[in-house]
Amino acid sequence: MRIQLTAKSKIIGALITMMLIPQAFAKEALVDSQSELPDAKKSEIGEHIQTRDLTRIPEGEFGDKVKKGYALFVNSQSMQGTYVNNQQNCVNCHMQAGAKANSAPLWGAYMAYPAYRKKNDKVNDFYERLQGCFTYSMDGKAPAKDSPELIAISAYSYWLAMGGLMDKHGLENQPVPVLSDEMLQIGGNAENFKMPKAVAAQLPMSKRAKLPGRSYPKIPKAELEPSLERGEIVYNSSCASCHGKSGEGLKEAGVQYIPALWGKDSFNWGAGMHRVNTAANFIYENMPIAKGEQLSYQQAWDVAAFINSHERPQDPRFKGDVSETAKKYHNHQGYYGKVVNDKTVGSEAF
Ligand code: HEC
Ligand code: HEC
Repeated sequence: MRIQLTAKSKIIGALITMMLIPQAFAKEALVDSQSELPDAKKSEIGEHIQTRDLTRIPEGEFGDKVKKGYALFVNSQSMQGTYVNNQQNCVNCHMQAGAKANSAPLWGAYMAYPAYRKKNDKVNDFYERLQGCFTYSMDGKAPAKDSPELIAISAYSYWLAMGGLMDKHGLENQPVPVLSDEMLQIGGNAENFKMPKAVAAQLPMSKRAKLPGRSYPKIPKAELEPSLERGEIVYNSSCASCHGKSGEGLKEAGVQYIPALWGKDSFNWGAGMHRVNTAANFIYENMPIAKGEQLSYQQAWDVAAFINSHERPQDPRFKGDVSETAKKYHNHQGYYGKVVNDKTVGSEAF
């Protein structure tokens, strides 16, 4: 039997849809997490692209967007109270203004999106990945698609990537082609992404997500299970002078110039850096600052565990029950929801 939609059932249908939509939005509003990037090998100098000097950012409308993106990235605190809620700047984790190879550089990321994610069966555009870092690493509220902020950071990321690629493939003297805001926000791994021929010839889609130097290179597994006791010893001897006895970092005249590693000014429980393995990779390569690759692998694991066993801002997906949130979103190497010193980590989050 055919079911005929009567006017009444149509109205009821519309009402149900209206009731459902806010919920669907609520679910969609947060990117599912700062999901882990594919494992990356360390790339040596010469293997990865070199970004152009900032003095080569062109004059004009496009160049202004690139400059604005750079400024937001290094001084993200200018978005304090709008999109940023802690005391972090993007550059704290993506070093040298997002240009440093093996420190999750913007250029490596830019060419890898749109990316298909099995976990939520969804394609993520570049701007959505940016939104993830606002929501979690910056403990903030992500700017909307098409906001001047996301367009600017996308433009800056694109300029870093394309300038480096053009230099590598013999187009040193040519300016980076201007793209529409819409294309800028999608990312370099789109099928219809336009590149100079000399670059396109070297960069089929199969290679774009794997530019040498992308991500934080994976370090070998710790020989011993990471230990909070050993981690504390490493922390006090090699990190506390800058990051503070209680992980609070350093502030002068209210300006945070060395980032907090835990506590209210730090990244939240949904951020990628709270995973022990991600932090261990980052720390081994980059810390103590300017003296990377000086800790042993074991020390990097131990100190990453120590830092990430402390309280920090709550996971924004938290609905009142830490164990629920942990079960749903924390199926990885981290302390959220585990018991440390007789307390459930996450239960006193800010
Ligand atoms: C507390 C450290 C931290 C801060 C601050 C931070 N990020 Fe991230 N970011 C990460 C981590 C960790 C990842 C994921 C790396 C992984 O899982 O291996 C990531 C991933 C990314 C990626 C994707 C990288 C790729 O190769 O796919 C982009 C793009 C990005 N962040 C942009 C930003 C922007 C823009 C800001 C500032 C608004 C920011 N990040 C602030 C830690 C941080
Ligand atoms: C000489 C000062 C100094 C020392 C010592 C130092 N750091 Fe850092 N650390 C920094 C600065 C500065 C940054 C931000 C980098 C930037 O903005 O370019 C940083 C960033 C970080 C971050 C990024 C996360 C965030 O929340 O923004 C982590 C994690 C980190 N350090 C861990 C460590 C660990 C672990 C040690 C000890 C092994 C250590 N650091 C030693 C100065 C230091």
